[in-house]
Amino acid sequence: MDFDINNLLRENIKRLVPYSSARDEFKGEASIYLDANENSFGSPLPVAYNRYPDPMQWKLKQRIAEIKGVPAEHIFIGNGSDEVIDIMYRAFCNPGVDNVLICPPTYGMYEVSAHINDVSIKKVPLTSDFQLDIEGLELAVDEQTKLIFVCSPNNPTGNALNRNDIELLLNNFGGIVVIDEAYINFSRHRSFIQELTEYPNLVVMQTLSKAWGLAALRVGMAFTSTLIVDVMNKIKPPYNIGQASQALALEALQRVDEVNAWIRETVAERQKLSEELGRLAVVLAVYPSDANFLLVKTVDPRGIYRQLVDKGIIVRDRSRVELCEGCLRITVGTPEENRALLAVMEAIPLATAH
Ligand SMILES: Cc1ncc(COP(=O)(O)O)c(C=O)c1O
Repeated sequence: MDFDINNLLRENIKRLVPYSSARDEFKGEASIYLDANENSFGSPLPVAYNRYPDPMQWKLKQRIAEIKGVPAEHIFIGNGSDEVIDIMYRAFCNPGVDNVLICPPTYGMYEVSAHINDVSIKKVPLTSDFQLDIEGLELAVDEQTKLIFVCSPNNPTGNALNRNDIELLLNNFGGIVVIDEAYINFSRHRSFIQELTEYPNLVVMQTLSKAWGLAALRVGMAFTSTLIVDVMNKIKPPYNIGQASQALALEALQRVDEVNAWIRETVAERQKLSEELGRLAVVLAVYPSDANFLLVKTVDPRGIYRQLVDKGIIVRDRSRVELCEGCLRITVGTPEENRALLAVMEAIPLATAH
């Protein structure tokens, strides 16, 4: 398959002259900065936030590069993965003309972001065992298909997608395959992040919002070719990651061991919770998970959801989602939280659950 980014990019993006910020135009060290209309006196906080942050987040990228084994030039940082998704649309999809493929049930923002950008979505549902329908995808691709979003491990089903199927897409699709690996740290399966040199049409998304415990900082990452990173940098708002987020994320990224311990604990709790939920009368099935949540088929999702809410426990009702009929999505909590959840669910008699 020949891949030429110029055949995919929108014409306005090819022509785009990006905004050049004060920090883009002068990159060295100086003693007096009078170039960015900042408050020269300081900021009313213990830490000085009066200066604009590094628009390219180099320190953060260098640390991520060390951890992931991917050069910093191959990394784009977004204001959450959601910004990465939006930028993919704005770079490659002509509104009202192009389309993208998604494989529901999956993460909702691929579709919402498409609607925002007036890009049409073609849905190729997962098979009944929550894997890619490769034939369906082949049939759905047309001249205007620019992106395929695959989520592995998938939200809300929790399973990883078959590696061979994803490789088939990467080898045969002339557009870009975006693999959303938000939950990869909890998975038994390998990331695609080491395959970037193999596939010029690959974008791997990860985030600090899940295993890293930094959802409030809004730091999402894309790992891809330098060509695609350069395009994304042209489109993003100049200072898309605030200084507080950059500094705190950098600090957190020094503490890999702590995070790895939580990941191990989450995976162990996932196993325990899955077994214990599986024994409950109101539970019909607990699906295998490679993520930090479980998809659980119940006799009465809405009733159980309400009873949990009454006890102050909030899970996600996914029962109206195609292929997830009867299902709740339950995040793996701390041992104490999981015990509290189980205690409430255990006490629901089969008869009243209906
Ligand atoms: C599959 C998937 N991708 C991305 C995200 C959002 O990540 P971020 O917080 O980086 O925007 C989520 C959040 O639930 C998710 O489930």
